Amino acid sequence: MPTTVPPLLQIEDLHVEFDTPDGTVEAVSGVGFTVGAQETVAVVGESGSGKTVTALAVLQLLDGGRISRGRVLWDGTDLTGLDRRALRRIRGNEIAMIFQDPMTSLDPLYSVGHQIVEGLRLHRRIDKRAARERAVELLEQVGMPDPRRRLDSYPHQLSGGQRQRVMIAIALACSPRLLIADEPTTALDVTIEAQILELLRELQVEYRSAMLLVTHDMGVVAETADRVVVFYAGQVVEQGPTADVLRDPQHPYTAALLAAVPTPETDRAERLAAIPGSVPPLRAMPSGCRFHTRCALAWDACAREEPPLHALPGGRSARCLLHGSGTARKTLDSASTRGA
Ligand SMILES: Nc1ncnc2c1ncn2[C@@H]1O[C@H](COP(=O)(O)OP(=O)(O)OP(=O)(O)O)[C@@H](O)[C@H]1O
Ligand SMILES: [Mg+2]
Repeated sequence: MPTTVPPLLQIEDLHVEFDTPDGTVEAVSGVGFTVGAQETVAVVGESGSGKTVTALAVLQLLDGGRISRGRVLWDGTDLTGLDRRALRRIRGNEIAMIFQDPMTSLDPLYSVGHQIVEGLRLHRRIDKRAARERAVELLEQVGMPDPRRRLDSYPHQLSGGQRQRVMIAIALACSPRLLIADEPTTALDVTIEAQILELLRELQVEYRSAMLLVTHDMGVVAETADRVVVFYAGQVVEQGPTADVLRDPQHPYTAALLAAVPTPETDRAERLAAIPGSVPPLRAMPSGCRFHTRCALAWDACAREEPPLHALPGGRSARCLLHGSGTARKTLDSASTRGA
């Protein structure tokens, strides 16, 4: 991609706040990354790190929250300044979203055929009969058995995997340029998960769409993403091309996440030995580096200084003081051999 072409999606210095009974909290604090045309970018991080809030902020779908600072540029246009009508034209049409649990986004009162047809007719001038035919085609494409008959099924009559296939069909109905998939397979068992991920990859190639894939699974990242963005406590702590980041992480948190990835050989006890401690609550963010309280490599400066996101060679960056100290390479290497 020539450097003069702007990325499809460019998130800049995004801050998201929520008002709660105990005051205002900031769930996302200065997040920035890009997704290029036809690129797959994975967002990873532990529960509560701000992945879903960021995805919802892109589509201006924050419930009870607000973007307090930053921009979300879609093809160069800032979505944070658009009115509802302009946003509706983009949602579902240019950017489509697939959620973790299809039951929260499918309407239990309507047949799946009706829901696909409605989605199509919202954005396209197409009569009902043609929309129904297109719905059959879409269900066939997402691998639904007996698609014509399935049009009349209601969501509760389908298995979890089938419901997720319907969600994908609805998302693809208008050939979006970006598909945001927020943990699309965590509600499914492992075999179905692999099938759905494979389906998403195939359809993404066929539809030439970009994908922003939210996951907490490094295995999924390795198999799916061109680039990976690692979140910790509402910030990006590392990002770069997937193969490089997985082979040679430049942030102790990424290294720890990778060390916690189960392989077929790891026994159960090891699988449970994830990163010690937990993501700090929004109301009690540590001073300095947000990860220092759990970091095997932290030293006294880490509690005082907020590390900037250091730009590194190869289109990478990492938010760690080690990269300002000139000792990152040696220290991170020794940490990963210790399985930090
Ligand atoms: N409506 C809300 N009101 C207040 N706080 C919220 C709201 N929605 C999210 N948060 C907080 O924002 C933080 C980030 O939440 P988010 O859902 O983005 O996490 P996540 O990375 O998607 O986690 P998971 O992997 O569990 O899906 C959490 O601390 C969460 O409690
Ligand atoms: Mg989430």
